[in-house]
Amino acid sequence: MSSYVVTGASRGIGLEFVKQLSANSENKVFALVRSKATATRLEALSRNNITILEADVTDPKALQLAAAEVSKATNNKLDYLINNAGSSTDPGLTLDQFPSPEAVEKDLLDNFKSNTIGVVHTTNAFLPLLKNGSTKKVLTLSSGLGDLEVTVAGEYVGRVSYSISKAALNMVVAKYAAQYKAEGFVFLAICPGGVDTSETSKSEPTAETLKENKMFLSTATKLAPDFKGPITPQESVKMQLDVFNRWTVEETGAFVSHFGNKQWL
Ligand SMILES: NC(=O)c1ccc[n+]([C@@H]2O[C@H](COP(=O)([O-])OP(=O)(O)OC[C@H]3O[C@@H](n4cnc5c(N)ncnc54)[C@H](OP(=O)(O)O)[C@@H]3O)[C@@H](O)[C@H]2O)c1
Repeated sequence: MSSYVVTGASRGIGLEFVKQLSANSENKVFALVRSKATATRLEALSRNNITILEADVTDPKALQLAAAEVSKATNNKLDYLINNAGSSTDPGLTLDQFPSPEAVEKDLLDNFKSNTIGVVHTTNAFLPLLKNGSTKKVLTLSSGLGDLEVTVAGEYVGRVSYSISKAALNMVVAKYAAQYKAEGFVFLAICPGGVDTSETSKSEPTAETLKENKMFLSTATKLAPDFKGPITPQESVKMQLDVFNRWTVEETGAFVSHFGNKQWL
């Protein structure tokens, strides 16, 4: 039996992680959501080995409470943590186009809180349990947009705060890896590929999002001429789990794609 915690499990890639992991009835999956009220797709799975818990990753107290619930159910152990929750603002502006210093600062902080600091709070909440687990593995969803070389080579100036928060997130993963390698932990930052999560999205894309998507597609085709468009959450999660399962402590702290290398698309 293996135990998993997946954050941001209400929809998109997180929901698919829960689906694939809970398909094995030997696994115990703890699905963390911001609100049970909006986690209807997760509820609909209605599997005995899924426990739904509420926690916003920007709320350390809620994460501690969730960790206490997991601890009760697993005798204070956790095998795998999947830091999937993340969000992106799409202002459609480059760093120098925001209307005021306050506006750019707010956008940076909003993304940094959920995508970077949220992972620190989540990892810290579950580390005591992971230390008692049998695998000590932590997968964190980053993004190829956090890759410095790709940004410059692809001349990609969009999604500024999101990209910056994910680049910082890669350093978060590296710091934990450096600290916990000697204890046998495996920390891995992964980009899931370009994944179409529209089927489970909360709302229709805004005009800014559509503009950003167009800009992203132009970068994608520049960098990867063979790019055929986004993959499904099913394909992405299967590939990510293949990479994660084979990742070893010798390679802890890496930042790779769903292919297990630096091919982002
Ligand atoms: N899709 C892609 O092509 C792609 C590419 C690169 C990286 N990624 C990364 O992969 C991860 C999953 O992406 P996705 O496409 O599945 O996104 P998504 O469809 O927008 O789903 C995001 C999930 O994260 C949750 N979430 C957001 N902020 C949260 C917070 N503060 N606390 C707790 N949960 C929060 C959302 O919960 P609510 O339902 O409550 O909003 C939702 O369950 C993200 O980290 C994303 O940055 C995705």
